[in-house]
Amino acid sequence: MHFDLIIRHGTVVNQNGRTVTDLGIRGGKFAAIGDLGAATADQLIEAKNLHVLPGVIDSQVHYREPGLEHKEDLATGSAAAALGGVVGVFEMPNTKPNTDSPAALADKLTRAKGRMWTDHAFYFGGTNENADHLAEWENLPGCAGVKVFMGSSTGNLLVADDAALERIIAHGHRRMAVHCEDEPRLLERRSLIGPGATAHLHPEWRDVETALRATKRLVALAVKHRRRVHVLHVTTAEELEFLRQHKDIVTVEALPNHLTLAAPECYDRLGTYAQMNPPVRDDRHRQALWAAIADGTVDVLGTDHAPHTRAEKDLGYPQSPSGMPGSQTFVGVMLDHVAKGRLSLERFVDLTSAGPQRIFGLAGKCRIALGYDADLTLVDLKKQHTITDGEQASRAGWTPFAGMTCTGWPVGTIIRGQQVMWDGALVGTPVGAPIRFSEC
Ligand code: DOR
Repeated sequence: MHFDLIIRHGTVVNQNGRTVTDLGIRGGKFAAIGDLGAATADQLIEAKNLHVLPGVIDSQVHYREPGLEHKEDLATGSAAAALGGVVGVFEMPNTKPNTDSPAALADKLTRAKGRMWTDHAFYFGGTNENADHLAEWENLPGCAGVKVFMGSSTGNLLVADDAALERIIAHGHRRMAVHCEDEPRLLERRSLIGPGATAHLHPEWRDVETALRATKRLVALAVKHRRRVHVLHVTTAEELEFLRQHKDIVTVEALPNHLTLAAPECYDRLGTYAQMNPPVRDDRHRQALWAAIADGTVDVLGTDHAPHTRAEKDLGYPQSPSGMPGSQTFVGVMLDHVAKGRLSLERFVDLTSAGPQRIFGLAGKCRIALGYDADLTLVDLKKQHTITDGEQASRAGWTPFAGMTCTGWPVGTIIRGQQVMWDGALVGTPVGAPIRFSEC
């Protein structure tokens, strides 16, 4: 038996539990799982002492191309993701121009070809203007679905009122991703962040009620139209309690940022570099998120990788833009939580691979099983790695996790049988291709 690639002696974590075994890959797919003692291959990877996970998906990233390439582009953003052990990304529509038409989607797919290191799909921004077309457009190849901003954030995509939101919800069938912050309440409370304000006020301005109100408005309309929705970056105990009552229709994303950082400490230490929307809140909410990881309420982890330059962050609050980079530190930071006993490695796989597959329907991906795309994230659970700003491939050039020493770190990224990262360095060429979805 001959393969393109054999990965030997790794501890494979999949639907069978943890098994020390070999993987044979041919034509970009898993072709054999088991003892491949006598088999040969063009390439051999020795994975003794490594855990071999189904490829990690980051279903929320902002890569800024076109229009804002001084912050990031498709090449640098996806390089950061691949370096972090990520095999596939869903990119957000708040670029310049917004991804709000088939031409804009086609442009991103063309730009991605030969430049992106990871597999990818791009979200359409849902707006009052394009609502009537979304049912058709959301099925275009390379589209991750529709994303709606209910509160204003970076860029000008905004669906502030229920009439427009309902039109968007009524036009389409794929799971729709939503940023839930209530715009009228944000406007009402804007005066809180007057002269002298610091980033400590960010979670006061964009408070619990701001998030909860939008989430409730969204769910009411989703239930009315039987439309599946995905609430991005949930941050409050109150939303989690509410969302648990609607799991037939709503899925939930949590972020490493909100699971790891907490107010006020993060604002004391990082100032505007910890500013994001929705905000990092206090430990009560962080604990509620961990409880929701434990009890299954959270379906997926994404990073909301949202790079801004230091010069932009240094403008001072509230002129500083919201968002932090996250893809490159995603797996390492979460493995450190695994090492500290906050979640199991199996739950991590559930949140980053099986979860995205289950709720978004990636075709032929996210499973170490014969016939599936050979996407893998290889991790060393014992490796100690201290995160630095200097190692970040993101054009932002900084990370809120600089200085954190993680126990557990990704050491290999394999995408459809092609090695793209090994031991902290990119390998080969950018092989990223559009992700296919089983519902389209
Ligand atoms: O903090 C954020 N930054 N939240 C968002 O919703 C958008 C993102 C960005 O694009 O910068």
